[in-house]
Amino acid sequence: MSWEKEYQSKLMKADQALDYVKSGERVVIGHACAEPSHLVETMVSKAEQYENVEIVHMVAMGKAGYAQPDMEKHFRHNALFVGGSTRKAVAEGRGDFTPCFFYRVPSLFTNGSLPVDVALIQATPPDENGNMSLGISVDYTLPAARAAKKVIVQVNKELPRTYGDSCINVSDTNIVAIVEHDAPIIELAPPKIGEVERAIGANCANLIHDGDTLQLGIGAIPDAVLLFLKEKKDLGIHSEMFSDGVVELVEQGVITNAKKTTHPGKFVANFLMGTKRLYNFVNNNPDVELYPVDYVNHPMVVMKEDNIVSINSCVQLDLMGQAASETIGYTQISGVGGQVDFIRGATMAKNGRSILAFPSTAAKGTVSKIVPLLDEGAAVTTSRNDVDYAVTEYGIAKLAGKSLKDRARALIEIAHPDFRDALKNVYEERFHCNY
Ligand code: COA
Repeated sequence: MSWEKEYQSKLMKADQALDYVKSGERVVIGHACAEPSHLVETMVSKAEQYENVEIVHMVAMGKAGYAQPDMEKHFRHNALFVGGSTRKAVAEGRGDFTPCFFYRVPSLFTNGSLPVDVALIQATPPDENGNMSLGISVDYTLPAARAAKKVIVQVNKELPRTYGDSCINVSDTNIVAIVEHDAPIIELAPPKIGEVERAIGANCANLIHDGDTLQLGIGAIPDAVLLFLKEKKDLGIHSEMFSDGVVELVEQGVITNAKKTTHPGKFVANFLMGTKRLYNFVNNNPDVELYPVDYVNHPMVVMKEDNIVSINSCVQLDLMGQAASETIGYTQISGVGGQVDFIRGATMAKNGRSILAFPSTAAKGTVSKIVPLLDEGAAVTTSRNDVDYAVTEYGIAKLAGKSLKDRARALIEIAHPDFRDALKNVYEERFHCNY
C-alpha cells in the first residue's frame, strides 16, 4: 500500500484514536513544547473509560489534566522531571518521580524497565516520502515512538520541521492512528533577567572563549550569559536544548558553529523551547539538527566536542561541592535533566569546562544557596567529584582539583556577604584552623 493510502486508512478523530488506550497501560506523552495537547486533552476528557493508566512525561508544558486530584482513579503520573503543572501531584503523593539521567531515558523504554504501550506524539504533515518530523522535541519522544506498541500521532501544520534524525514514517506499523489538528505550538516566554542574573552572566562569559561550543540549560541565567557573548567569535551549540537567546547571537554573527569538532556548521540539540521567533528560525533550517537524547546527551558523544562549556544551575551547593539541583529538601521541584550528562561529557572533552551558575541567595535573599550541608532530604544531583566551576554574582570558584578545605574557601568567597561569617565559622570548626 502507498504511504498516501496508509495515511488515509489511519486517519481518524481524536475521540476514536484515544480508544486505543486501554486501562492499565503505560502512555508516554511527547515532550515539552511539542506536547500533542489535543490528544492529551481528549484523553483526559475520556477519563471515565480508563482505570489506572500510567502517564510517563518529562517537562509537561500543557495543562496536565491527568495530574489533577479528581483523576486519581483513572491516571497515575510517573514524572521523569517535575514541572509547574505536575509538581503538586508529585508532592501530594498522587504522582511518582523516577530518577534517571536524561540520556538514559530511551533505554528505560527498551530494557524492560518502562515498556511503552502507547506513545502520544505530535508531528508535521508527511513529506513526499511519507516522513513526518517530530519537530522541536525529538529527545525521548522519538525513541518512545520507536519502542511503543501503539503510536497515536497528532499531525499539526504549525509544528516546525527539523533536520537530523527527527522523523517517523506514515507506514511505520506501530502507528495506529493519525489525527489532524492544527494548533499554535506551546511557547515559552523569554525569562526576566535582573541585575543578579546579569552579574552571573558576565562572570560566566569570562570562562567562555572564541571558538567554544556551548551547552545551555533553561532559564534566566543561560539567557543572561548569552547577553555577554556579543564580542565573542565563532561560538557553537551542542546542547540538550536551546531557546530564543541564541537566535540573536546568530543574527549578530557570534554563533557560527564553524569551529565545532562534531557536526561542524550545525546546531545540535534534542529539544527546543521558545517563542515563534525560535520556531521560525529552526523550521526547515538545514543548519539545525535534532537527534534523540541518547545521542545528543550521551557523555561519550559530548566528550568528542573539543572546547565544550556546559552551563547549568543548582538549588544548593554545599561546602564540599555537592550540588542539589532538583530538590528543595524532600520536595522534588524538577529533575536531573541533562545536567550530569553534560558535566561528565564536558569534563572528558579536550579543553572542556562545566559551570554551575546560580544566584548566591534564594527566597528573596533570606537563604544562602551555598550551605554547610545540603538540606535534609535533598538529592545530590552533581557529585563533588564531578563539579568543576561554581559561579555566582560575586565571582568564580574553580572547585575541580581543589582539596575539601580549599574548595570550601573558594565557595565562601563567592557566597553572599550576609552569609559569609556563618560559613567561615563552619570552615574553622570543620578544618580546625582559622579562616
Ligand atoms: N532554598 C529555598 N528555596 C529555593 C532555593 C533554596 N536553596 N533555591 C531555589 N529556591 C526556590 C526559589 O526561591 C524559587 O521559588 P519561587 O518559585 O517561589 O520563586 C524556586 O525555588 C525555583 O528557583 P529558581 O532559582 O527560580 O529556579 P530556576 O528556574 O532558575 O531553576 C534549577 C533552577 C536548579 C531548579 C533548574 O536549573 C533545574 O531544574 N536544574 C536541574 C536540571 C538541569 O540542570 N537541566 C539542564 C539542562 S536543561
